[in-house]
Amino acid sequence: MTAQHITSPEKMEALIALSKRRGFIYQGSEIYGGLAGTWDYGPLGVMLKKNIENLWWTMFVSDREDMYGVDAAILMNPAAWVASGHVGGFSDPLVEDIKTKKRYRADHLLEDAGVDVKGMTLADMDRAIKEKKLLSPEKNPLGEVRQFNMMFKTFVGATEDASGVTYLRPETAGGMFMNYKNVLDSFHPKLPFGLGQIGKAFRNEIAPRDFIFRVRELEQMEIEYFIDPKDWEERFEHWRKEMWRYIDAIGLSRAHVHELEVADGDRAHYSKRTIDFEYDFPFGKKELYGLAYRTDFDLRSHQEGSKTDLTYFDEETKARFLPHVIEPSFGVGRTLLAVMSEAYTEDEMNGEKRVYLKFKPDIAPIRVAVFPLLKNRPELVAKAREVFALLKKEFLNVIFDDNGNIGKRYRRQDEIGTPYCVTVDFDTLGEHPELRDTVTLRDRDSGEQHRVPLSELCDALK
Ligand code: GAP
Repeated sequence: MTAQHITSPEKMEALIALSKRRGFIYQGSEIYGGLAGTWDYGPLGVMLKKNIENLWWTMFVSDREDMYGVDAAILMNPAAWVASGHVGGFSDPLVEDIKTKKRYRADHLLEDAGVDVKGMTLADMDRAIKEKKLLSPEKNPLGEVRQFNMMFKTFVGATEDASGVTYLRPETAGGMFMNYKNVLDSFHPKLPFGLGQIGKAFRNEIAPRDFIFRVRELEQMEIEYFIDPKDWEERFEHWRKEMWRYIDAIGLSRAHVHELEVADGDRAHYSKRTIDFEYDFPFGKKELYGLAYRTDFDLRSHQEGSKTDLTYFDEETKARFLPHVIEPSFGVGRTLLAVMSEAYTEDEMNGEKRVYLKFKPDIAPIRVAVFPLLKNRPELVAKAREVFALLKKEFLNVIFDDNGNIGKRYRRQDEIGTPYCVTVDFDTLGEHPELRDTVTLRDRDSGEQHRVPLSELCDALK
């Protein structure tokens, strides 16, 4: 079988199994039976996640003069979530199994029954469920479709009453609107400028599903880009292109990512235009990222809610106004899942079926693995350790592996997506004098090996 992009439940199963087996992603609190909608990142998952985040931060914050990084508190004054419209409107359509009292997303049940729910109101969904005589997954009748607020409530301080209620932020965006004025006052940036943040957000999803695709504790990489409203179309276009540049950089094929212009009735309450970037996940075409024109909805709401002047003064035109906002929003978990799905490849090597992750080298959790040919020959192990130390100085993600035979080690590295393996053998030690201080460098995708002098190894890997 050749490398291919497979959209199938079998591929999803294989990815979940590989993630657990090799230490990418584990079920949250697994020894207690898990907690729905939570997943833990293992050692390789953390490395992959950090590479994804670092690439994003470099491209969109460090490399740009118009961007400022922030890291805001997850807990915020609840008045901010009232002003932003989340207390009133951050909800999903819910329907209850009237026997078991279990709750389901009404739109998901309808979609599973082949109904296009785009633009449907609550009443439309209710009608459609009744017309189609839909039952719950347990085959029981369903109640009325209702709105369900997805914010997690918690209490601040010692009193567990209404005065102490606040929320875990449902989007990192909120923390950036809290810091717009701070950054304006500290750095006096001129429009357009943006804030960028990577952090956790929490949503009490009624139906978490599809592995790490829809979870209750998620991570977002978001930008709030403040602009003069007259330029919104140009700035929107700029960020659309930048999002595609990131999609290329993490190694997703453009053929597997699709733009969807979100229709009027389906946009979030704050958005005047939204494009969703959808990816061909193993379970179907679903939202990966969103790009929204939030107008001045947030700054206006927070200005009114906090009674604080959030206007911007343009020195050139002497005009004072509320900037508008373009918001590119990226889910970290969905990026990781798309990157793993894209990389998952099955082929045949030396007559055997092989599974490997074809990550781009910049994204791969491990960039290079170093092996001594044999574990029980101290002179080989010592030399391999020297090579490992040399590479570790140059590249961060380097590992040493002497477990099992060399074929098994290659398979293990293929399965975790390590692009290069370096083997120290008897020729490295001078068995054939003309090969002294050379090593074999193996390429993950082709399985081909060639000898490289140690003095050229770092350059070859770069
Ligand atoms: N600030 C805008 C905002 O939060 P969103 O479309 O609700 O917009 C943005 O979320 C991105 O966050 C999505 O495109 C997706 O990548 C990710 N995301 C949202 N909800 C998620 C969930 N329950 N699980 C995993 N990722 C999620």
